[in-house]
Amino acid sequence: ARSIGVAVLGMGNVGTEVVRILDESAADLRARVGADLVLRGVAVRDLAKPRKIDAALLTTDPEALVTRDDVDIVVELMGGIDPARALIRKALESGKSVVTANKALLAEYTGELATAAASARADLYFEAAVAGAIPVIRPLTQSLAGDTVERVAGIVNGTTNFILSAMAETGADYADTLAEAGRLGYAEADPTADVEGYDAAAKAAILASIAFHTRVTAADVYREGISAVTADDLVAARKFDCTIKLLAICERVRDAEGAQSVSARVYPALIPLTHPLASVNGAFNAIVVEAQNAGRLMFYGQGAGGAPTASAVLGDLVMAARNKVNGGRGPLESTYASLPISSIDDVPTRY
Ligand code: NDP
Ligand code: HSE
Repeated sequence: ARSIGVAVLGMGNVGTEVVRILDESAADLRARVGADLVLRGVAVRDLAKPRKIDAALLTTDPEALVTRDDVDIVVELMGGIDPARALIRKALESGKSVVTANKALLAEYTGELATAAASARADLYFEAAVAGAIPVIRPLTQSLAGDTVERVAGIVNGTTNFILSAMAETGADYADTLAEAGRLGYAEADPTADVEGYDAAAKAAILASIAFHTRVTAADVYREGISAVTADDLVAARKFDCTIKLLAICERVRDAEGAQSVSARVYPALIPLTHPLASVNGAFNAIVVEAQNAGRLMFYGQGAGGAPTASAVLGDLVMAARNKVNGGRGPLESTYASLPISSIDDVPTRY
């Protein structure tokens, strides 16, 4: 039977689960793809860490792994800009498809990477980069490709939602809850990215780019994190029948003449307890999409953590592998608009 060679870069929270599922679900994956998905190697930094994998598959040389002839698909789960950016480019330029969960990288370099993918007729998939297990990239790039999206808004960071939920429910301590989010595999390697809103801003940039078919980078997103939110703020919010959530809001804005621009912002907002987003707790995420013809859609599920994120990675891997087997290429996000970014001087406290 034909086999599709897979290289995994990174075996941390997410990579460990991807490797586990590749092994445990090998027979099902073979049936779904029409070929064996064969793990050719896994790149890590530290070979001495205990891991559940045949040690012969481990390497500290991701570049050599990415350029192997028997690798068809590269799954990048190491995070960060460098060397992930160069490795993904190298993979795409040599015709290998890429699956990545790296929102920090995508928020800056989707344009560059998508161009490299298109030139090589390779796939670049990133469902796991926004909201963990929740399918939202594919609905926006494919299911809603014939509609006009007006707004994408919601809770897109599991760590901060976990912290705010625990503080609101039990008065838990901010620092203790952040440490717990790290132990549970929700937080970024540097959790400043979570609590200061950089991670949510990266996701907002990705969502705005694909929803409005334009290019938005993290620097275009107005950003406030949750580090200044106190237990007293949450108690005060309750008195107004509200709670506080870190929201990402991306909107198509039209001025009086009909000229369009994009507004993207991340900030902690007061949400009435009756609003569906108010009951999204723990590391769960929820995203509301409003489109001209579809109306309002809501996506909800586990937004962080190894196994939920690995589920989204495996979905992309199966799609990319099917395309390799069938000799085709999947649809990419399409960029044809060039919308200016709306300036944001102030944000409303209440959602
Ligand atoms: P971790 O920090 O847990 O794992 C990173 C892995 O990459 C480690 O195995 C590390 O090796 C390896 N690595 C890092 N740099 C290098 C390098 N230069 N060369 C070789 N290997 C390297 O990260 P996560 O698994 O949590 O996240 C991975 C990616 O997925 C990130 O982009 C993150 O933003 C994204 N993501 C994470 C989610 C989550 O819930 N955790 C959810 C959605 C996306 P070693 O083990 O030796 O240190
Ligand atoms: N650190 C991220 C979060 C991981 O907490 O949402 C999922 O993208």
